[in-house]
Amino acid sequence: MRVLITGGAGYIGSHTAVELLSEGHEVIIFDNYSNSSTTVPERIARITGGPLTCFRGDLLRPSDLDLVIRDQGIDAVIHCAGFKAVAESVEDPLMYYRNNLTGLINLLDAMAEHDVRNLVFSSSATVYHASGESPYQEDSLVGANNPYGRTKEMSERVLADLVASDPTWAVTILRYFNPIGAHPSGLIGDDPEGIPANLLPYVARVAAGELPAVQIYGDDYDTPDGTGIRDYIHIMDLARGHVLALLENREPGMRVYNLGTGRGTSVKELIAAFEAANGCVVPSVVTARRPGDLPVVYADPTLARQELGFTPRYSLEEMCAHAWAWQRLRQG
Ligand SMILES: NC(=O)c1ccc[n+]([C@@H]2O[C@H](COP(=O)([O-])OP(=O)(O)OC[C@H]3O[C@@H](n4cnc5c(N)ncnc54)[C@H](O)[C@@H]3O)[C@@H](O)[C@H]2O)c1
Repeated sequence: MRVLITGGAGYIGSHTAVELLSEGHEVIIFDNYSNSSTTVPERIARITGGPLTCFRGDLLRPSDLDLVIRDQGIDAVIHCAGFKAVAESVEDPLMYYRNNLTGLINLLDAMAEHDVRNLVFSSSATVYHASGESPYQEDSLVGANNPYGRTKEMSERVLADLVASDPTWAVTILRYFNPIGAHPSGLIGDDPEGIPANLLPYVARVAAGELPAVQIYGDDYDTPDGTGIRDYIHIMDLARGHVLALLENREPGMRVYNLGTGRGTSVKELIAAFEAANGCVVPSVVTARRPGDLPVVYADPTLARQELGFTPRYSLEEMCAHAWAWQRLRQG
């Protein structure tokens, strides 16, 4: 297939590009590099040796989307481009609604215009309602508690309404849990601008001496060690989930899948796993809970296993080792 990946230079898009190219598909990357480096496509090409077409463009400029979709003979789109930091979305909700919702609508318009109706959409476990319980299933109650999560929830609704209005669309929504790690080569990885909002990139930068200590937001949750529990999944397993979803997304209609491992790991366990895997020390300090954080979030990944054949392969140790390899390359 010839696949357009919006946000293809970002963390999830770049690893998905590697996986698709390794499977013999063709990839076109569309990105404005607002949260990624322009060197990523060249590094993807080094890993795969495959042909890679890149297009610098913005979801908020419909003419950019029109151009790439009109000219590239695309079979399907994986839509990863968007903003993803919860705290930033609380500070500037309009920026989030504009980029994530207007961006999606612009993309759908351009796809419809050029008769491309096959889409895999990056959603998030943050769409699940706080009153729910782990393991979350795809039919668990939805109701995000922050602007970022609401952009994902609304995007899912837009897609459901679109599919209901025009049954020729094939749409798969992937609700990611906590992707971490990096490609085993260490050539690409999570590379957020500024101070990382996610735990593992933060841990890696503390281990590298770039930041003083990991903040543990609360150790008085009702969990075995008191710290929050999340479902960490290796980024290459998540990338593989996209390829599987794309292959099954040929029939019209809408499908929703959790992509997680179904295993919970606490903050303290993750830090200890990183130290053990990489033989380093990661100082940490316990601070107050963050409003809105849930104690325990992990997936029920049964549906993705049954319908997509999705089975995560990488261990927590590998997630930590690969994140560290990437951190060392980043530092030079
Ligand atoms: N990383 C996670 O933990 C996580 C978890 C759940 C869901 N998601 C979702 O997955 C998607 C990808 O996440 P990621 O971690 O790869 O983020 P990322 O920031 O690394 O990648 C997103 C990419 O989109 C690009 N982009 C942003 N706005 C754009 C625009 N208007 N036009 C063109 N390009 C634009 C950025 O430059 C970046 O390269 C996002 O939609 C995010 O909400 C991520």
